[in-house]
Amino acid sequence: MEQRSQWGTRAGFIMAAVGSAVGLGNIWRFPYVAYENGGGAFFIPYLFALLTAGIPILIMEFTIGQKYRGSAPLSFFRMEGKKAEWLGWWGIFVAFAISTYYAVIIAWAMKYTIYSFGQKWGSDTEGFLYNSVLHLGDTPGQAGGYVPGVLIPLILVWVIVFAILFAGVKKGIEMANRIFIPTLVVVFLAIVIRAVTLPGALSGLDAFFKPDLSQLANGTVWVAAYGHIFFSLSIAFAIMITYSSYLPRKSDITNNAFITGFANSGFELLAGIGVFAALGFMAAQANVPVSEVATAGVGLAFAVFPQIINEFPGLNSLFGVLFFLSLVLAGLTSLISICETYVSGLADKFGISRNKAVLFGAGIAFLVSTLFATRGGLYFLDAVDYFINQFGVAALGLVEVIAVAWVFRKLDLFKTHADSMSDIRIGGWWKLSLMVITPVVLSIMMIDLLRENLGKRFDNPTGNYEGYSDAFIMGAGWSVAIGVLVLGIVFSLFKWNSRAMQPYDRD
Ligand code: ALA
Repeated sequence: MEQRSQWGTRAGFIMAAVGSAVGLGNIWRFPYVAYENGGGAFFIPYLFALLTAGIPILIMEFTIGQKYRGSAPLSFFRMEGKKAEWLGWWGIFVAFAISTYYAVIIAWAMKYTIYSFGQKWGSDTEGFLYNSVLHLGDTPGQAGGYVPGVLIPLILVWVIVFAILFAGVKKGIEMANRIFIPTLVVVFLAIVIRAVTLPGALSGLDAFFKPDLSQLANGTVWVAAYGHIFFSLSIAFAIMITYSSYLPRKSDITNNAFITGFANSGFELLAGIGVFAALGFMAAQANVPVSEVATAGVGLAFAVFPQIINEFPGLNSLFGVLFFLSLVLAGLTSLISICETYVSGLADKFGISRNKAVLFGAGIAFLVSTLFATRGGLYFLDAVDYFINQFGVAALGLVEVIAVAWVFRKLDLFKTHADSMSDIRIGGWWKLSLMVITPVVLSIMMIDLLRENLGKRFDNPTGNYEGYSDAFIMGAGWSVAIGVLVLGIVFSLFKWNSRAMQPYDRD
């Protein structure tokens, strides 16, 4: 019988799953998504999405990995043969695409950790970011040569990832999470406590929490909540199936999923409080409303936050280091999980050693990721991130749920399996969520997204996302989203090595 790697302890698994979920998405995406979509009122659609999509899918993916004991493609293959396997590969290629740009953001954060000593970014933080750090070119789609200042930290990020992956599931991934996650929590708490005690913090929190209940009637708010939950919980891109395939034969599923889901949301809420308290402080310093300084993503982390650090009443360098270090730690623990999907898939499919799978999978990911360390890197990153999130993660979420619930009709079997080994039993809401609520909401969301993108309905001269040209949207957006699906199907056509077909430790 095949010997699969295993987590050392239950806590080790939970730490790794939380480490995967808590990432850059929690810190720089969530606070702004919440703020933009109704502030305090957003918590209603957010909780609804968490309880009807996030946690139900997490339970489903934990069950799939734990029951079939394989990487995503092997688990789907064991579930329904060739006609399901491609779903696993699709998830892996979505993860592959994400890993290539995710690593670059961590590289920027590393660079900014060093810049924090003495606030090397000066007073024009935006100019510093785009001109002195990224050397951003003018034309999206033109790489325009490497930026060594980004390439070098990027290599360092990959060296760390390689080292952790080479060390294996228990001695590498579990160990890294056991160190990084508690450190992240302590560091982040320090930042949040400092942020809420800054002058003006209350006005920031007021902006963040003030409920705009009228927004609840707005469909886009519900769609935003659903869209966010997938990336944030690391579901629907092969990760949680891979991680749970390393669970021992008898281990809890449902309670672990609740713990992971609520820990992720708890961190997200903490990030929202920290970010908006800091934005409130900044707005008070500049004597402008919070709405004028609120933003997300690259601008928030690498232009607005340096500005906030500049204005800190004391210990500026320390808080700069803590903030960027928290991005590095949250990012690394997620990146490791993203890469582990293809390490595990390649090893299972082709019967190669773990080390070869790391070298090959993460090696290619590293090479591709250097594209984002060019002068045009930020444009590529922005387009790939948008398309892979909407037409990769969310689309796969929809297809995966429909396939498992309606086509393969596995939910009863999975419920029995999860109930037989979990602290708590799954209620009727689980099936209802996966059979009806999630497919309906995600279908509406997908139709909307397709109409918006194919119908060129964005409010700008080209009608495309961010006003990009058709050629760029084709080359860096659609081709990536469609490419990962095609690659997924192609990989499912290859033959399995004989070892993967041996009996596995099943019920
Ligand atoms: N779940 C990870 C994040 O939120 C990928 O960034």
